Amino acid sequence: MRRWASTAAVRLGLLGLCLGSGWRAQAAESEPDSSLRVLAERAGLTLGVAVDTPVLNGDPAHAALAARHFHVLTPENALKWGHVEWQQGRRDTRAFEAIAAFAAANSQGLRGHALVWDREIPAWLSRDDPRVFDAALADHLQATMSDHRDLIEVWDVVNEALGPDGHRAPSSLVEVLGPSYLETAFLRARAEAPQARLFYNDYAVLWPGPKADGLVRLVKALQQAHVPIDGVGLQSHLHLVPEGRLDWPGIRAHLRRLGALGVEIHLSEVDVRVADLAGADQGRLLAQADAVYRLVSVCRLEPACTHVAFWGVSDRYSWIDTAIGPDDPLLWDEQAAPKPAYFAVQDALLGRPWRGCTTNISGVGPSLETVTTTGGRLRRSLESSQAEVVVTDRTASWHGPQVDVRAWLSEGLTFRLSAEVQTAEGMPLQWTLRVVDGGGTRFLKVTETVATGAWQSLEGLLQVDLQPPVETVHAYVEGPNAGHDLALRSVSATVACAPSEATSP
Ligand code: XIL
Repeated sequence: MRRWASTAAVRLGLLGLCLGSGWRAQAAESEPDSSLRVLAERAGLTLGVAVDTPVLNGDPAHAALAARHFHVLTPENALKWGHVEWQQGRRDTRAFEAIAAFAAANSQGLRGHALVWDREIPAWLSRDDPRVFDAALADHLQATMSDHRDLIEVWDVVNEALGPDGHRAPSSLVEVLGPSYLETAFLRARAEAPQARLFYNDYAVLWPGPKADGLVRLVKALQQAHVPIDGVGLQSHLHLVPEGRLDWPGIRAHLRRLGALGVEIHLSEVDVRVADLAGADQGRLLAQADAVYRLVSVCRLEPACTHVAFWGVSDRYSWIDTAIGPDDPLLWDEQAAPKPAYFAVQDALLGRPWRGCTTNISGVGPSLETVTTTGGRLRRSLESSQAEVVVTDRTASWHGPQVDVRAWLSEGLTFRLSAEVQTAEGMPLQWTLRVVDGGGTRFLKVTETVATGAWQSLEGLLQVDLQPPVETVHAYVEGPNAGHDLALRSVSATVACAPSEATSP
């Protein structure tokens, strides 16, 4: 039996003792470099990924990534009731067995997902007679847990039982059995597998709000009623549209609040939708990486959070494509190449700043070569170490050097735009953003100051709600009266870092 570390042991750094020694040896031999799972161990976390059998069997590149980077596999569908008992009177566990064999071959653990879920009731099962229905549910739970008792130490016992208001949602389970089906499921699961860790799993419970409050109430109620619950799975399917902007300090406080109840936390189904963010492809992927960085960091920093699982390996096979629409929500792209989000996971696990916010993004941010002007004449002297551009013959205060930022701006992302500028003392200086998009033409002040006469830094944060179709987006320096020259050097754009309180203890 492979064990994948219980909470306390992981967070006390005893991971090596809990995982079979063979597991450690193999990781060390074949991975002298930094696979994600090796980095995660140092951070006291385990990493998981959801897999489906056809992909594991049919796509070697994809399977290799699943084997190399993750401690634990979650069968994406193979253990669900409707999948196992798609035919009445027969349990079909072939898909699961293939995943279990793959996990065994790669010294990986398995996460049991999901025993009781309204959306996975076999089609043949009649809802007319509660006793027949309940007996079938009890059989399913008993058979699934006992078949795999030695293999699976964590189970999502109940999935998605809460509504958006935090109260139990209507469902056929509630209709046929009443809301207590949930408590019954946990009690039966404990009786079946006394050693297993039993989880309640749901979506939209990562960030503060009525549903997150409902989750806290549910855990407390179960504990008060002596119904066994060991952990909560926060699915973490993220969507970075403006209205979904995430309250990261609030998320951390929520994780702490859950941890204080004594339950273990898994971020159980992470993916980040970006397809419908207005902006450039590159910016969307950076926005995604920024969110993944913050999410993994929050888990690393909160002791109760022990496990992060991604809902799929590469963008080629994500449930989002079929459930919602084409998207790129995962760590590897369609060709199984690592995306910015992959490197963000590395940085978060290492506890260092995300590289996306410490480096001028090469090929994405502006350079002096690409600077143009909104008016007057542009003179470039790019050879010397003091490379600069100067706008002369300015006939309006808004004439000044400009950079095209359309290629890397995106919703869900804040950029820090900076340059050194020089003009006559006492003149106003301002970074302005000119956006031409579905909302028309807009001029937004980014930052302003007063010229000292010497070279000085002009720096501001860019965060724009773009409206498709986006035509042009430029940032330019303006302000001095006509007739004064305006010079610019060392222009750079970096993604604004997560505030340090979000990523440090
Ligand atoms: C999804 C699978 O990824 C799809 O392949 C399947 O068609 C539907 O279910 N919440 C859950 C997961 O708990 O089981 C869901 O998985 C995604 C949402």
